[in-house]
Amino acid sequence: MDGLVRRFGEFTAVDGIGFSVEPGELFGFLGPNGAGKTTTISILCTLLNPTAGTARVAGYDVVRQRDRVRASIGLVFQEITLDDYLTAAENLRFHAVMYGVPAAELPGRMEPLLDMVGLRERADQQVRFFSGGMKRRLEIARGLLHTPRVLFLDEPTIGLDPQTRTHIWDYVDELRGREQTTMFLTTHYMDEAERCDRIAIIDRGRIVAIDTPDALKASVGADTVTLATNDDARAAEELRSAFSVEVEHRKGALELRVPDGEAFVPRIFDVLTVGVTSINVRRPSLDDVFLKYTGRDIRDAEAGASEQFASNAMIRAWRRG
Ligand SMILES: Nc1ncnc2c1ncn2[C@@H]1O[C@H](COP(=O)(O)OP(=O)(O)OP(=O)(O)O)[C@@H](O)[C@H]1O
Ligand SMILES: [Mg+2]
Repeated sequence: MDGLVRRFGEFTAVDGIGFSVEPGELFGFLGPNGAGKTTTISILCTLLNPTAGTARVAGYDVVRQRDRVRASIGLVFQEITLDDYLTAAENLRFHAVMYGVPAAELPGRMEPLLDMVGLRERADQQVRFFSGGMKRRLEIARGLLHTPRVLFLDEPTIGLDPQTRTHIWDYVDELRGREQTTMFLTTHYMDEAERCDRIAIIDRGRIVAIDTPDALKASVGADTVTLATNDDARAAEELRSAFSVEVEHRKGALELRVPDGEAFVPRIFDVLTVGVTSINVRRPSLDDVFLKYTGRDIRDAEAGASEQFASNAMIRAWRRG
């Protein structure tokens, strides 16, 4: 894609983005709420026209070759789009017909998918009796059914339990190995982002970073030391004056970023006059990457949007000191 822009009235949701995803790649698209992820995916899936710029999916132009694009892709969207009055199996069959899956192949594809999402026993029940999690699981099974060349997954596993997420990821890995499916994924789960070959981070409609998870982590360039003490306010003062480092109060503990955390820890004990109750050194994680490029915590991204804008502004203000 190149120079992709999408405006809604005065508001620019996607602001000139351009990058490419390699065939067979598992590509992660991360960003805070409202950053423009779903808008971008909707353009790539031909559900929304770009205001400007171009994009090709599986080699086809998303505006001029809409049908070709549609025939090459699969979608698992944030919103559930199943038919409530069909059974689970009927939903899958209907989708298979739409996408031209040969009838002879269908049982062989449906069964492992229903097993993967733990819905084989419920296959003949109408979807309107399903829980939210069950619908989500069926939605994912459906997205994988016609083995598309490019699969778009917009927060596919949101709200699912860890065990189901593991099953789904095992299947996704197997599918990638077998079919070399290209996958374009948005997620707020760190462990899922960690699986990606490359990640792009989008913030306010612009790409702010794009690289492999390892390279992104290396770009943070500092370890995080977290410590809890008997008197955090005083400890923070003492650390600031001894090392001239920034000390942040986060989640009921003190956090500092230093180049070599392990060597730094013993020096902390030389300067502190208050008792330390716990201490932890962490190499940069994708959480730190997300925080660095967006000023936000990736986990917060699940909360309500307005709340987030407040916390975003607060963190930015805080970081400015
Ligand atoms: N149809 C629309 N009309 C007006 N504004 C829209 C429309 N669709 C999206 N937006 C706005 O565009 C911005 C980007 O929305 P988008 O859904 O792409 O965000 P997102 O990155 O997917 O966020 P989330 O993590 O919450 O899913 C938001 O501010 C949203 O309110
Ligand atoms: Mg979205």
